Amino acid sequence: MSFDKSLAYQEAQRAIDSVLEGETDRVLKMVTINALLKEHLPYYFWVGFYCVRQGALQIGPYQGTLGCLHIPFSKGVCGRAARTETTQIVEDVHRDPEHIACDSRSVSEIVVPVYNNDNQLIAVFDVDSTTEASFDQVDQEYLESILKNHFQTQVLTM
Ligand code: SME
Repeated sequence: MSFDKSLAYQEAQRAIDSVLEGETDRVLKMVTINALLKEHLPYYFWVGFYCVRQGALQIGPYQGTLGCLHIPFSKGVCGRAARTETTQIVEDVHRDPEHIACDSRSVSEIVVPVYNNDNQLIAVFDVDSTTEASFDQVDQEYLESILKNHFQTQVLTM
């Protein structure tokens, strides 16, 4: 049976929502999202957050091999996502002149901007895969929704 990406995202989303119910700490949200997405999506090679600090990106919570510590907004696919505030999908990073190679095994990637309640960019979420064109609209839709639900949406408490 072939792998059902949508189903895997739905299961990951349920697990994330359940673990993070009532959680307000940003770092705990980031580590949980990394761990559960990586567990459910087998093509995730590197997954993590680059946080906005003093006008540049700085490595945040991640799972995978050593990531670059600092990325200016002017560099990398992560910088482009932060600069343009749009999700970036790259089928082959070796053909993207802006890409920064932290690990030469990464081939395709998706980078999604992350906002807070005030619609300010607080981070970008970066996922790398070792195979070409691993990411598409399905990844984009689920990731944008998960990130919006946990960082941008006001948490309503009774
Ligand atoms: N993919 C990034 C660099 C960070 S790593 O892949 C962990 C980029 O080009 O922005």
